[in-house]
Amino acid sequence: MFMKQIIDIKNVGKIYEGEKGLVNAIENFSMQVEEGDFVAIVGPSGCGKTTLLWGLTGLHNFTSGKAYVLEEEITKPRREVGIIFQQSNLLPWRTLIENIYFPLEIMKENINNYKDRIDELIEGVDLTGFNDSFPRELSGGMQQRASIVRALSYDPKILLMDEPFGALDAYTRDEMDTLLLEIWSKTKKTIVFVTHRIEEAVYLANKVYVMTARPGTNLALYNINLPRPRPEGITMEMAFFDIVADIKKTIVKDVQAKKEAGKYRSQEYSTIA
Ligand SMILES: Nc1ncnc2c1ncn2[C@@H]1O[C@H](COP(=O)(O)OP(=O)(O)O)[C@@H](O)[C@H]1O
Ligand SMILES: [Mg+2]
Repeated sequence: MFMKQIIDIKNVGKIYEGEKGLVNAIENFSMQVEEGDFVAIVGPSGCGKTTLLWGLTGLHNFTSGKAYVLEEEITKPRREVGIIFQQSNLLPWRTLIENIYFPLEIMKENINNYKDRIDELIEGVDLTGFNDSFPRELSGGMQQRASIVRALSYDPKILLMDEPFGALDAYTRDEMDTLLLEIWSKTKKTIVFVTHRIEEAVYLANKVYVMTARPGTNLALYNINLPRPRPEGITMEMAFFDIVADIKKTIVKDVQAKKEAGKYRSQEYSTIA
């Protein structure tokens, strides 16, 4: 089957001009995402994962390399790209439904045209009956489910997710992962999912990009050939565990090699100039 390339990142880099000097966050990172892919990006804290996603959304520019979404160079945020952050970013003074409508208001859309779709999405994430609740009345998992509805409301082709379930407890996080896979298979979205949890990446994705410690660059790419839909209990199977262990070993080896070469930099704030 011919798969359309939907994201193409070629040797991108990002250098921040921080107060203490220049910070080399990403260097020479490349990634290809095809339509319908579920791609995960893993890497240690501070390796530039958020920096990379922000570049993909057009919220900031890369300082080198080229990045294309739907065959157009990324220069500004586009409505084909939805983003979900680690924090749900719901506005505390708005109810759940008013939060979901918020991006549509910003885009000056007629909300009536979206109501049926949104009702269906709300039902799909099991939030029916909470439209008039305020964020403080909802659990962390419910807030993140609301942010998924908000991002899907205007039907973007691509969903970028930055450690979206990182702040949730382990049980809720597993539930959210399963829910996300259901949404992905139903909606056929293309998802790029950032996490530092290798188990989560292997469970969710069909491709896992592994980044090095900062400056983040390509360390390895894994194609995950586990069955879809993921069978119940797959995370306790040897086949699953083998892949996770392999990725962990790759990361440890890289850190070891860098330490031996005296090139290992701690993830603490440090500058290149
Ligand atoms: N606005 C900024 N100015 C200067 N340095 C930054 C800025 N944002 C992030 N950084 C630095 O860039 C590196 C990568 O950050 P980030 O992309 O947030 O990593 P990750 O999401 O993988 O934890 C870190 O060293 C961080 O301190
Ligand atoms: Mg981050």
